[in-house]
Amino acid sequence: MKTAISNGSATGRLIGVGVGPGDPELLTLKAFRLIKDAAVISYITNDRGLSQAKQIAREALQCAPKNQRHIEIVMPMSTDRTLANRAYDQGAQAIQAILESGNDVVFLCEGDPLFFGSFAYILARIKEKFTCQVVAGITSINAASAALMDPLTLQQETFTVVNGRQSDQLIEQALRHHDTVVIMKAGQARTRILALLKATNRYQDASYLEYIGRENERIVTDLDQLGIEAGPYFSLFIVCRHQRPFFT
Ligand SMILES: C[S@@+](CC[C@H](N)C(=O)[O-])C[C@H]1O[C@@H](n2cnc3c(N)ncnc32)[C@H](O)[C@@H]1O
Repeated sequence: MKTAISNGSATGRLIGVGVGPGDPELLTLKAFRLIKDAAVISYITNDRGLSQAKQIAREALQCAPKNQRHIEIVMPMSTDRTLANRAYDQGAQAIQAILESGNDVVFLCEGDPLFFGSFAYILARIKEKFTCQVVAGITSINAASAALMDPLTLQQETFTVVNGRQSDQLIEQALRHHDTVVIMKAGQARTRILALLKATNRYQDASYLEYIGRENERIVTDLDQLGIEAGPYFSLFIVCRHQRPFFT
């Protein structure tokens, strides 16, 4: 298979599968098939055992064999990279043991596996030793622009993505220099982002979306409706000003 990086051995494969941003119907056919047929799956959970990716993939998991094995990688709620790296090390070891026994492991990833995805850290620990494959998923950005029914970019327009945890200076620079800016991980930074949107005269161009495609989806196009408190982790801003009306 062309997308697989092969080490030429008879061990199992690690397959990172994007499950999309929330709507279970935004799983690709390929993702659905791989998840339902997998003998072993793996995913990240929080310290309460909750996994967004597993929740999104629930319909495919319901079709899986009853004895499907789950490897949970518990990620501590902390910004301490040492703790995160320890969890990735332990998770990668558990996955490697399965791969060595000749079985594949399907790793569930929210959205796309390699777009701000934790899967990158598992892949980095495994890809030199085992055959790996990545199945692209629909990102939260694609789901957001579809929900707003507004093109992300057209013709000469520029587009950039920033993390809401970046400095004011970096976010402001992005807002001043690009037609479209997506600000990910907006929850904790929401109040700061609202101030930056005003300071850069981009407030009217911005929409805020949380839990896109999930039961508690919220889309706010008039930012005056947003409270000044922090928002949830699964939230983002799309800031978009087209250079000309897009029906021309
Ligand atoms: C670790 S990143 C994962 C991104 C994901 N791999 C993707 O392809 O979209 C998590 C961030 O993605 C955004 N995000 C992911 N899913 C979302 C959703 N359903 N609604 C709103 N934002 C979402 C939020 O900004 C969140 O803080």
